[in-house]
Order: sequence, then C-alpha cells, then structure tokens
Amino acid sequence: MNIRIEEPKVEPTKTSHPRVEEIYTRVFKEQNDKTVLDLGSGDGRKGCKIYLHKGCDPTKWHAIDGQKQLLDILDKLNVNTYNLNLYETKIEKHLPSDLEADIFLCVEFIEHFATTDEQIDLLSQGIQFVKQGGDMCVSYPEVAVLDGKKFGHKCKRVDTDSIYKLVEDNFNEVDIFKVSTGKTYTIFINGFGRK
Ligand SMILES: C[S@@+](CC[C@H](N)C(=O)[O-])C[C@H]1O[C@@H](n2cnc3c(N)ncnc32)[C@H](O)[C@@H]1O
Repeated sequence: MNIRIEEPKVEPTKTSHPRVEEIYTRVFKEQNDKTVLDLGSGDGRKGCKIYLHKGCDPTKWHAIDGQKQLLDILDKLNVNTYNLNLYETKIEKHLPSDLEADIFLCVEFIEHFATTDEQIDLLSQGIQFVKQGGDMCVSYPEVAVLDGKKFGHKCKRVDTDSIYKLVEDNFNEVDIFKVSTGKTYTIFINGFGRK
C-alpha cells in the first residue's frame, strides 16, 4: 500500500470544497466514457460535470442521493438518478442488476454514517457493482470536522484502518493520498483494479 501526503494541486477556488475538486480532477484525468456509480452524489456539479465536459455519455453515470432537489439538477443533464435514503435501503434493490461500474465514487459521504460497520457496509454495497479491473475512489475528512450534526446528520469520524483493510481486500493496488488544504485533510483512496 502506497501512502503519501500531498498539498493540493488544484488552486483553491471560491467553492467550499477545493479538495473535492482536486479529487475529481485526478479521477477523471484518465477516464473516458466509463460507467460511473456515484454514492452520495449531491448535485454532481463537480464530478459529473467534469465527466460531461469531456463529452462522456450521461447515461453511463448513476447518481444516488437522499436529496431530490439535488438530483433534479442531475436529471436535467440526462444522467441516471436514484433518490434513496441509504440509511434505510440497500442500493442493490434499486440499481439495474447488470450494472457494472468502471469507477465507484464515494466522495465526502461515508462520514455521514454513524458507525464504522455502516460505513463499511455502504462501501461494500458499492464494491459489488465494480467490475473486475474497475476502480474505487473514496474520500473523507480525516479530522473530525463533521462530528456533530452538520448537514442534519450525525456524522462520525471515519476509522481509517477499517477502510484501508476493505480496499486492500478488494483491489489489486491501493494508492492513498492525504490532501491537506490547511484546515482539513481528506484521505483519498484509489483502488487500481478490482480483484
Ligand atoms: C458532503 S455532500 C457530498 C456530495 C458530493 N459527493 C460531492 O463530492 O460534492 C454529502 C451528500 O450526502 C447526501 N446524503 C447524506 N445522508 C444521506 C443518506 N442517508 N442517503 C442518501 N444520501 C445522503 C447528502 O444529500 C449530500 O448530497
């Protein structure tokens, strides 16, 4: 497992999540027209739009989020949206059973789940849809900035060792960046090739 700490390469902008932009910029640098599963997508304004600006096929993007008004924005871009409360339902009940994702994104989302078991369960559900050789990118803040009730959820600091073990068990190579923006770290884990 390769772990390194880097300063962001993307210049901070006025958006609230420069580190998220950083992640998407790295993930989609090499990606062309791949099938994407995005859990906790929000309005997809960063990841999905980078993808679509490359001219990729919107019907290959599958976005899941609990806030319908955010998914309505993505609907207008013709991507597949699923308005689900993932505290209460499993994704396999709603996604096409033959979906095979080239890349599974879970960006700034797992910390919204209250326990490590729930966080691992969520990622495991997504991994089931990653095809052999496909990738996963998961990111979350390392510091406990979201502990408490920001976004109306009870947020939990993520147990990084459990996440490392899960990705090591499921992917051939694991590349981990810790990206610091000064106030926070985001751990960014890329699995290169599902086993
Ligand atoms: C911090 S945002 C991250 C959005 C996006 N991944 C990004 O990179 O900009 C967290 C998202 O998780 C969604 N969310 C929180 N709890 C959820 C739940 N129980 N089920 C589904 N989505 C949820 C929120 O609606 C929000 O869009």
